[in-house]
Amino acid sequence: MKAKQVIGLYDDYVMGNYTRKPLVIAKAKGSRVWSSEGKVYLDFFPGWAVSGLGHCHKRVVKAIQSQAQKLLHVSNNYYSEPQAKLAEKISLNSFGGRVFFCNSGAEANESAFKLSRAFGNPKRYEVITMLDSFHGRTLACTAATGQEKYKRGFEPLPEGFKSVPFNNREAVLNAVTDKTAAIMLELIQGEGGINVADKAYVRFLRELCFERNMLLIFDEVQTGMGRTGKMFCYQHYAVEPDIMTLAKSLGGGMPIGAMVVQKKISGILSPGMHASTFGGSPIACAAALAVFEAIEKEQLLVNVANMGNYLHDEFLRLKSRHPIIKQIRGVGLMLGLELIVNAPRAYDYCLANGLLINCTQGNTLRIMPALTVTKKEIDEAIKILDDAVSKC
Ligand SMILES: Cc1ncc(COP(=O)(O)O)c(C=O)c1O
Repeated sequence: MKAKQVIGLYDDYVMGNYTRKPLVIAKAKGSRVWSSEGKVYLDFFPGWAVSGLGHCHKRVVKAIQSQAQKLLHVSNNYYSEPQAKLAEKISLNSFGGRVFFCNSGAEANESAFKLSRAFGNPKRYEVITMLDSFHGRTLACTAATGQEKYKRGFEPLPEGFKSVPFNNREAVLNAVTDKTAAIMLELIQGEGGINVADKAYVRFLRELCFERNMLLIFDEVQTGMGRTGKMFCYQHYAVEPDIMTLAKSLGGGMPIGAMVVQKKISGILSPGMHASTFGGSPIACAAALAVFEAIEKEQLLVNVANMGNYLHDEFLRLKSRHPIIKQIRGVGLMLGLELIVNAPRAYDYCLANGLLINCTQGNTLRIMPALTVTKKEIDEAIKILDDAVSKC
């Protein structure tokens, strides 16, 4: 099918709730994607961080093929081996908790809100979140997200959420009441512009939650699965959350979400209180197990640290040449370049010249290449970015 025909079908039959560029992607491998017209792109924002291992990683593809021949789906009234093994894998790689499986980041966060409400019931139900956060598009996640633009037109939103300035102890202390059940944050705000939580601030939140018997929730939907050079971003902070939510790259391209809960509070959701029909399906879990296997066997955390440093150094060089670059932020392979002007022109230049990235908050280029990225690919991207920034 020609690109024009595909786009025509979208225009006629697909809801128009996305801003799309006129690029039809026909196939992808590693850090490369091919358009339906055969143009090759270097993908430095693969699938909004879903394709963390790069596109169509061979271990993931093989795991999906092999599982598809045995068992695609089983209801959660029964057991299946991939779900059991994946829960063990996540637990042993994090803080020894128990896992609830669902299908997306928003669902994982919804699960965390429900658990927080059940924990605080009947007196405490409020969840404090951060300004500039992003937690998903369901009504509760929209209420939790600390950005007005996502809320407009959907009022009244579910009550019980309030957002405070990020990295500000005073603000969170003032916001806690006898109704607060939990505090939730992304350790690196992705959509909010790659804003990194201070270590002392996160330790302060941990202590505060212990003292006031509140739950501390880390939304690791974007930062999880090796993105920052540790399997989970909280491992840079020497603190553990009560709840961690995952999705995006967990499934290597398959839809899967997870809520990981400390064992001592995992019994709060008893049988019947929460569920997901597709949650923990054998096929998605098999793919996620292959993601863990790839990260371990291919030593991808080492690659993230090395390539993250290399990319950061290259960005510093860019900054020294282009005063238009205001700040470089991020950890590992989750980096943002804040410009002093609007960034969409730089984004469009990259797209036209074969580089896929993301632009967030109007002025920040968000760069999150695959964990498998090579020096050569980074050099190629930097060349395009260099030209793109000069065009702003
Ligand atoms: C930090 C964070 N939490 C939650 C979500 C929502 O995930 P999903 O789109 O899978 O519902 C996102 C998506 O971008 C995210 O970045």
